[in-house]
Amino acid sequence: MRQYYIAGNWKMNKNKAEAVELAKGLVAALKDGKNKYMIGVPYVYLDAVAQVVKGSNIQLGAQDVAATSNGAHTGEISTEMLKDIGCQTVILGHSERRHEIGESDELINKKVRKALADGLDVVLCIGELLSDREAGNAEDVCAFQLSADLSGVTAEQMAKVTIAYEPVWAIGTGKTATPADAQAIHKFCRDHIAKLYSKDVADKVIIQYGGSMKPENAQELLNQPDIDGGLIGGAALKVESFEKICKTY
Ligand code: 13P
Repeated sequence: MRQYYIAGNWKMNKNKAEAVELAKGLVAALKDGKNKYMIGVPYVYLDAVAQVVKGSNIQLGAQDVAATSNGAHTGEISTEMLKDIGCQTVILGHSERRHEIGESDELINKKVRKALADGLDVVLCIGELLSDREAGNAEDVCAFQLSADLSGVTAEQMAKVTIAYEPVWAIGTGKTATPADAQAIHKFCRDHIAKLYSKDVADKVIIQYGGSMKPENAQELLNQPDIDGGLIGGAALKVESFEKICKTY
């Protein structure tokens, strides 16, 4: 039985005091929560938030990491640095990094392998653009991203990988995939992972849904058999709305 895994992606939001306050509120609100929780915090506030979530049931995540080790890489943040301050998880392949920054599947794959090799958990985001969906290519895009981004990742390492299916057209738009549409793609992704690895790996992998998930629609999405959690953007920026999603089940 897969555990529900609810994660908040704070993206480029909050100042330091607000980040600490939100983290404190979440630690108190979720202390009796039954599910797995993570918050993806901007780099500069990770250290401050690490002090708040230490010893709690909320994992600390970064929103990116370098594909290389420490050295002459101006502006980059390494897995070593993230682990040093108590970070356990990293969100990789987010569509905002793919489409705003231009990250390729090749680079995302390097980051995934580096993070896993160095002992971090990975939330790998995949998902199609509206034009892909309209052209009937949503499944092909997800299959390609899964194959490319997980290339070289072993079946054992898959225990530390979570997939977040985030249709790009649903992110921050208020448009959510219908539960049936989301379920269909989640099932497709799980079947694809079975082809890449095994049924056992596919049965165990957590697949989160992301894209305008909020307290009002969380239940119908989480009711779907292959939707195992959420990666939440806007609704993760307030204790009240994130807590409600976290406590849907
Ligand atoms: P929203 O919940 O704001 O649509 O963002 C989803 C997302 O991109 C999470 O990574």
